Amino acid sequence: MHCVRKVTDDLYWVGANERRLALFENIHPIPEGVSYNAYLLMDEKTVLFDTVDWAVCRQFLENVEYVLDGRPLDYMVINHLEPDHAACIDEILVRYPETIVISNEKAFMFMRQFGFHIDNERMDEVNEMDTRCFGKHTIAFVYAPMVHWPEAMVSFDVTNGVLFSADAFGSFGSLDGKLFNDEMDFDRDWIDSARRYLTNIVGKYGPHIQHLLTKAGTIDIKMFCPLHGPVWRTDLGYFLEKYDKWSRYEPEEKGVMIVYASMYGNTEAAATALATMLVEKGIKNVKMFDVSSTHVSYLIAETFRLSHVVLASVTYNLGIYPLIHNYLMDMKALDLQKRTFAILENGSWAPKAGDLIYEFLDKELKEITILDERVTLTSSLSELNDSEMENLANALVESINAE
Ligand code: FEO
Repeated sequence: MHCVRKVTDDLYWVGANERRLALFENIHPIPEGVSYNAYLLMDEKTVLFDTVDWAVCRQFLENVEYVLDGRPLDYMVINHLEPDHAACIDEILVRYPETIVISNEKAFMFMRQFGFHIDNERMDEVNEMDTRCFGKHTIAFVYAPMVHWPEAMVSFDVTNGVLFSADAFGSFGSLDGKLFNDEMDFDRDWIDSARRYLTNIVGKYGPHIQHLLTKAGTIDIKMFCPLHGPVWRTDLGYFLEKYDKWSRYEPEEKGVMIVYASMYGNTEAAATALATMLVEKGIKNVKMFDVSSTHVSYLIAETFRLSHVVLASVTYNLGIYPLIHNYLMDMKALDLQKRTFAILENGSWAPKAGDLIYEFLDKELKEITILDERVTLTSSLSELNDSEMENLANALVESINAE
């Protein structure tokens, strides 16, 4: 049974929601699901923008068939070849033998690599800023390399200002009947999912997002139609501002996240004591995370949100606790920058984690500050740590208030 939404007079959402998948890209938890968006333009010619993940192909095909209502599918634009959007290309080509595929050279190369079979006469290769007219609507194709793969492009409907934005301006989360940003309380219910999606999936490519935002600034966009999450038709500036911040690696808020690794509760107790001191000193925006029970994608999203990070780690095998190390590696991989870090370490006979964390941060991350004040526990927090704790809390307060 079909389930579609009308986006404009002649444009339809024909995507589907996935609520059974536990891990997006087999790595990121998506307890609230994800939508795979595809759009069908019913002009003098019919034009499908992208497909969906194989898991929801059946729903997608029913949607396309319903909207076409017997008409042929003339064109299929592929903006992004990653299989969560491109898996159903062959299925469309088999069912609609007249369809011409519009995409760029790199995407066609990837199609061959992924084993899709497209005859040369069914391929229409476009270059940067090429246009195609489908009747009332003229579409311009704009390259968006590395947002999030090298072949990625966006398609801009110059007739009505709709931007088919591929992975840009997307979010985790299933749509649950709602499609448009004004049908939901995005700032309350969606922003955390949007941040976690962008920072973990495309976070590494901040400069490329900036490049796309610059291009976007030169055109009159009225609507974002991304490949995941809500369609934006109001308050586009809200999301543009978030994207600008995230892609420049600027924190959204002043605040402290304390990420702790604790085997028997002693490091956690010290982290809680530090959080309490910060709140008592007037820093209310404090959040604690147990690295052992918080998936690193949530930690990364919070690290993009907040200005200060306290890493509280036990020493493990004379090294950094493995899950803290994993978190550090993710920060490096995503090119996180412009944060202030503080270190609290624990080690019953040879505390080493602090020096190793410092060395990692210093060598591997750009444009960061590491506070000199450090707390070193030998097994558990005691009065011997009073001055270190006080000094660290004061240094954090001073740093936050100075920015
Ligand atoms: Fe949702 Fe880069 O694909």
